[in-house]
Amino acid sequence: MSSFVAVADVDRLSVGKTMRVECQGRKILIANVEGILHAVDDTCTHEDSSLSLGCLKGELIHCTLHGSRFSVRTGEPMEEPATEALRVYPIKVDGAKIMLDPQGAQ
Ligand code: FES
Repeated sequence: MSSFVAVADVDRLSVGKTMRVECQGRKILIANVEGILHAVDDTCTHEDSSLSLGCLKGELIHCTLHGSRFSVRTGEPMEEPATEALRVYPIKVDGAKIMLDPQGAQ
C-alpha cells in the first residue's frame, strides 16, 4: 500500500537542482533531472556523507567525500569506492506539492 507524503513545494526545486528532505526519519535526496523528479537516499552507501552536498550532472549525483557518483534514477553507483545502490523512492507531483512514499523504497 502506498502512502505518499507532501515534502516540499514543487517551485522550490528547479531543473538541475537537488534538495534534501527528512521524511519519517529518513534523509532523502530529491533531484530534478530535466523536469523529472527522482528520490533516493541522501546518505552515501560508502560512508556517512550527505549526497545533497554534491553536484548533480545529468542524472548523476557526485559524493563529495570520495568521489563516487550515483544515478538518481536507479540508485546504482557508477564507480567505487561505493558498491551498493541507494534506495529509490516513489515520487510524484500533486498540484503544487512534491509527494514521496518513504515506505515504498526499492
Ligand atoms: S562517502 Fe561517498 S564515496 Fe565515500
